[in-house]
Amino acid sequence: ISLKPYNTFQIDKNARFFVEAHSIEDIIEALKVARDQSLPVLILGGGSNVLLTKDIFALVIKINIKGIEVFRENDTHVWVKVGAGEVWHDFVLHAIDQHWAGIENLSLIPGTVGASPMQNIGAYGAEIQEVFDHLEAINRTSLETETIGKEACKFGYRESIFKNVARDQYIITHVTYKLSKEPTFNISYGAIQSTLDEMGRKENAYTLRDISDAVIKIRQEKLPDPQKLGNAGSFFKNPVISESQFEQLKQLYPEIPFYPQEKGIKIPAAWLLENAGWKGKTFGNVGVHKKQPLVLVNYGDGDGAAIKALANKIQRDIKERFDIDLHPEVNFI
Ligand code: FAD
Ligand code: EPU
Repeated sequence: ISLKPYNTFQIDKNARFFVEAHSIEDIIEALKVARDQSLPVLILGGGSNVLLTKDIFALVIKINIKGIEVFRENDTHVWVKVGAGEVWHDFVLHAIDQHWAGIENLSLIPGTVGASPMQNIGAYGAEIQEVFDHLEAINRTSLETETIGKEACKFGYRESIFKNVARDQYIITHVTYKLSKEPTFNISYGAIQSTLDEMGRKENAYTLRDISDAVIKIRQEKLPDPQKLGNAGSFFKNPVISESQFEQLKQLYPEIPFYPQEKGIKIPAAWLLENAGWKGKTFGNVGVHKKQPLVLVNYGDGDGAAIKALANKIQRDIKERFDIDLHPEVNFI
């Protein structure tokens, strides 16, 4: 079947077999079939962080496990267990309705709950690891369900074990978040404060909904809507370079924006791309978004291989100009 409706890049590639799993049992059954038939397996959530470069001879399992359940509660917090197939933003809106704080800054990130720990999704000064408690996942070798705590996930910037050492070993079925009943508003990042002012929201009387509305407004202004223009958000991660390399760059580009980290200095890849002249460039049906150059786009009928080739070209150019390696955030398939 065509995977076009199942990936936000809207790449028209086929999968040999496709099944939607609504329960743990569905997943195990599908894994057994795949094992019997010696078929590779590909797990999909919302398909908002993948790039399909060719047809795949595999069984695609789309995770559709639903449910939101308060698992435990005290005076200050709720532990909420959520099915991997819930749409992330719907869960954010539900939490806001319930006055559960901690994920409002992560409004409007596409995709599913089950993928949220994969790359420790983050935006506007927040990351999932700050509210993550534990998850349940099927071990693809033993077919047993395991509970995996926060330490074991080894979260980092757009990283977890599920993206590296434990890649393709687990299928996440449920994620439990620890959310707060006593909100502390996190408005220090970027344009949140100014957007709240612009929207006429009153300081000292902010609600979770206000923060969410501001984040949504900022995102809608610069990120393309995947319904209208195929994309997978930031294509590359923001690189972290050494202080000595940063000092050299700053001599050449005194205006370069930077964010000091525990180790090294983070540079916005969007700035590198804009500075190198990539912003808004198109190549046939694919290109670099005109408002946010870190987002590669499919203008329609674009090919995954063409996007991959463009990404490679950008990597080579950024390496040549700045001696910086850009690493993809998107998962190539
Ligand atoms: P998919 O694309 O379906 O899968 C991603 C990877 O996870 C694949 O390798 C897949 O095999 C694996 N996977 C998915 N579900 C499971 C599961 N249940 N168990 C095991 N493996 C699984 N990301 C951010 O962090 N911050 C942002 O601000 C942000 N903004 C974005 C804006 C746009 C417009 C778009 C299109 C994307 C953006 N992203 C952002 C990227 C994307 O939204 C996230 O990576 C999201 O978590 C992907 O979820 P998904 O369900 O679509 O995952
Ligand atoms: N910039 C430019 N030119 C541009 C756009 C940005 O020079 O056209 C520079 C500016 O200096 C700006 C800086 O880049 O201040 C950062 O830009 P922006 O705030 O748009 O964020 P980003 O670093 O490009 C990251 C995440 C996004 C997340 C936003 C908001 C990564 C790889 N990307 O983007 O996540 O939504 O911050 O927190 O870390 C995603 O992962 O898919 C994603 C969209």
